Amino acid sequence: MFKSRDIFHRIAFLLLLTLPGWANELFSLNITCKECHPTIYQEYRESMHAKATIFADEIHKKVWELLPFSQRGEYSCGYCHTPAANNLEELVKANGIGPDPYNPTQNDAIGCALCHRISDVKEGKIHNFNVISKKQRVYFARKKPLVESPFHKVDITNPLYQKGNNCTGCHGHYSNDHGIQIFTSTPNLSKINCVECHMPQMEGSSNTLIDTKTHAYHGGFGKIVKQNISKYLNLQIRTTQEGFEIDVVSRVPHIVLTTPLKSLYLSVDVVRKNQIVFHRPEFFVRALSDEKGQIAIPWFAREVLIDTMLEPGEKRTFAYKFKLQKGDRVTAILSKVLLGYEVDKGIDGSLSIKKIKIVNKPEPLLSRVFLIK
Ligand code: HEC
Ligand code: HEC
Ligand code: HEC
Ligand code: HEC
Ligand code: HEC
Repeated sequence: MFKSRDIFHRIAFLLLLTLPGWANELFSLNITCKECHPTIYQEYRESMHAKATIFADEIHKKVWELLPFSQRGEYSCGYCHTPAANNLEELVKANGIGPDPYNPTQNDAIGCALCHRISDVKEGKIHNFNVISKKQRVYFARKKPLVESPFHKVDITNPLYQKGNNCTGCHGHYSNDHGIQIFTSTPNLSKINCVECHMPQMEGSSNTLIDTKTHAYHGGFGKIVKQNISKYLNLQIRTTQEGFEIDVVSRVPHIVLTTPLKSLYLSVDVVRKNQIVFHRPEFFVRALSDEKGQIAIPWFAREVLIDTMLEPGEKRTFAYKFKLQKGDRVTAILSKVLLGYEVDKGIDGSLSIKKIKIVNKPEPLLSRVFLIK
């Protein structure tokens, strides 16, 4: 319930946080929210949104160092990976400033206050942009609060929040200098409600001043959809005259998977008397190559060699001519994998994928077993 002494302590704590030194941030630091929104704060700390910076994400750092941007000291990645930086304009230009691990605003990654101040999304050619509201302590939200916050105001009139989509400024699309998509765009991404799947209501109050029973999940947005994956992806197995068929059905309104760094792998097996008598690997991939015809990470890619990712709402059917017998067990397992490729060069110089190899332990998402009676 509402306790006035608590509020006094909180305000004293907040004053402490806004002492000179940290005073020049454009966005209140994430740590400011911890006092009144501890559950959300803890969840968020575990998410990639809190770890998207060059200081916390090792892979991101390595890729930046490989790119010509790093030699020019141009941290253009900051638009999306360090957007709460108090010197963002300077940081993303080619002027040698480069990321600074001692700047607390740069360590705030996709900050709480930043995300709650996205007032609009502007379409862009290379990538979209977030329009940030100028009102320092007014945060957009969907629901009308039950009590007033002593620290900030809440604005529930922003359509992006009403539609559950303030995400496409960063997630819309992003292409490299050669026009190749680094992560895939999907038509009408802005019409999708991302919150319904990636930020479901979970048990626990959203704040310490009044018990709201539930709160919007702020942890790993990828992890939470995996927990409910059978709501969004499905496998169906049935017999046919020639053998059997398997459908992979997506109810996801965006491409799965969203980046070429990982792929989907469907393992189809028939087990007869404890022996595998039939095995087919199927892949949903997006493989890219550089100018030398080598498989490339998206930032260096010039060509799309193959693109068989699952489209929004797609149902893909695989048909097999294999006569099943009574007692056979058909299994289908859909996993996430990292892949290696062998590339073939045609006489005309054109490239194609010759062989696909799985290079890590598959991470299972979903499986189905079908027993022939
Ligand atoms: C002194 C306590 C306090 C601090 C600090 C605080 N908030 Fe809040 N916040 C509240 C209260 C109280 C509510 C209203 C909760 C309710 O009635 O549902 C609220 C509501 C919100 C809402 C809207 C929620 C809704 O119920 O619709 C958002 C968004 C929000 N806070 C974000 C932040 C962010 C971001 C920070 C840190 C920069 C922050 N808050 C810091 C107390 C605080
Ligand atoms: C338009 C916004 C945007 C810009 C600009 C941007 N990124 Fe990203 N980046 C993202 C998003 C969004 C993801 C997550 C994509 C997904 O999972 O679908 C991501 C993911 C990544 C990943 C994968 C992280 C992992 O751990 O798997 C790497 C690496 C990366 N970015 C590097 C960079 C580098 C280097 C730059 C600058 C040259 C950059 N990004 C610029 C938005 C951006
Ligand atoms: C109907 C549910 C649904 C909706 C709506 C939805 N997603 Fe997803 N999303 C998924 C599923 C399922 C996956 C695949 C899970 C995985 O990658 O392991 C996924 C994966 C992702 C990933 C990659 C996660 C990872 O771990 O690499 C990103 C990024 C993403 N979604 C962003 C969005 C954004 C942005 C929106 C709104 C424009 C959105 N999603 C709307 C279900 C949904
Ligand atoms: C990636 C953007 C993003 C970030 C980062 C983010 N939020 Fe949110 N937050 C949202 C969205 C979108 C909603 C609305 C969910 C809904 O419609 O129910 C929300 C809802 C809330 C609410 C409303 C109450 C509820 O239902 O939970 C509070 C409070 C809140 N956020 C606080 C925070 C705090 C504190 C942080 C940092 C620790 C934070 N948010 C970081 C996007 C974000
Ligand atoms: C300011 C830019 C920005 C906004 C706004 C944003 N994201 Fe992200 N998101 C990123 C970046 C950058 C990454 C990759 C971080 C990394 O791997 O270094 C990411 C990663 C993700 C991932 C994969 C990692 C994980 O936590 O599972 C999902 C899923 C995701 N975002 C969903 C969303 C959704 C849903 C929203 C809207 C509610 C949203 N994002 C808003 C920049 C943003």
